[in-house]
Amino acid sequence: MHSLCSRVTLNTHTNSEMRVDLVITWDTRTQREILGDTLKLKIMTTANIQLTDEKETLFIPLSGKALDYRSKNSVLNDRTANDIVEKVDYDFATQEGFGARIGARTLAVRAKQYDEWTKDFITKNKNAVVVHLGCGLDARITRVQPPSTVAWFDIDYPEVISLRKEFYSETNEYSMIESSITASDWLEIIPADRPAFIIAEGVLEYLSEAEVKTLLNRLTTYFSHGQIAFDVMNSFVIGLGNKNLKDTTGAVDILKWAVDDLTEIDKLNPKLKRMEVVSRIKSVFIDKLPYGHRLIFGLLSLSSKHKNAMRLVRFEF
Ligand SMILES: C[S@@+](CC[C@H](N)C(=O)[O-])C[C@H]1O[C@@H](n2cnc3c(N)ncnc32)[C@H](O)[C@@H]1O
Repeated sequence: MHSLCSRVTLNTHTNSEMRVDLVITWDTRTQREILGDTLKLKIMTTANIQLTDEKETLFIPLSGKALDYRSKNSVLNDRTANDIVEKVDYDFATQEGFGARIGARTLAVRAKQYDEWTKDFITKNKNAVVVHLGCGLDARITRVQPPSTVAWFDIDYPEVISLRKEFYSETNEYSMIESSITASDWLEIIPADRPAFIIAEGVLEYLSEAEVKTLLNRLTTYFSHGQIAFDVMNSFVIGLGNKNLKDTTGAVDILKWAVDDLTEIDKLNPKLKRMEVVSRIKSVFIDKLPYGHRLIFGLLSLSSKHKNAMRLVRFEF
């Protein structure tokens, strides 16, 4: 190492997360071309992660996306998710069983579908605003790479955004909003007169039907036009999910909104026109998963209870 670098700086930050930045500056042109001017290695111990209940569930899709990244034939290729999993001090052991691993990769499939819908929308609407409700630590903006004409807003509870800011930085085009999505004032931060693409990935399940109705009405009243994409779980999976969450995280009955019949959503908001519905286990992106997984999903999809366990829906308004 001594022969390669001219200066090593160790910066310690004495905040609660105890962060150590090791900055190595390289001094020859050739090394700069290969390695960049500065290699910044961040060793982070986000000790005392105190996220509970629905906030803690962000680690489920995060670990699914990281697992997918490490798998042959990655669906999502989400390197950021893998980097965060390696840095964050959270016990991912509960998500490592065989069943959990199969389910985890379908969360990469779900994210891929939302990425494609987002790309489709911003390709047709160069001045779009993208809003991710309950963003957790998701890296969609790095996967989609929107043009600078798009304004992007990620929103989650303050505790989640505080952790998120350890890994992501705001720019002129990218903002993070600290709020519950059920609050009424956060929308005012976002321009209302541009085409809006709203994503709620693994989030609306944690609201009651009345809260979902209020939120959807607020969104379709505030934005002049756009699309909204979200997933719904049927009552079979809401019950199963609550049992699993209680066993793994101790959270009690945090999954609330069950949808067995999609016309229930149509009735919540007459401005919403359903465009597309995708069963998570019948998605085209399942094709990248191993044969054994596809076989299991193929068999499960013969039963409507499993086929409709989680559906991704896209509406326009
Ligand atoms: C299963 S995680 C999904 C995270 C992210 N969308 C993803 O797919 O990686 C659920 C997320 O929704 C957030 N959430 C749940 N209810 C919320 C609310 N009322 N307001 C803001 N965020 C909420 C949680 O904090 C958590 O980050």
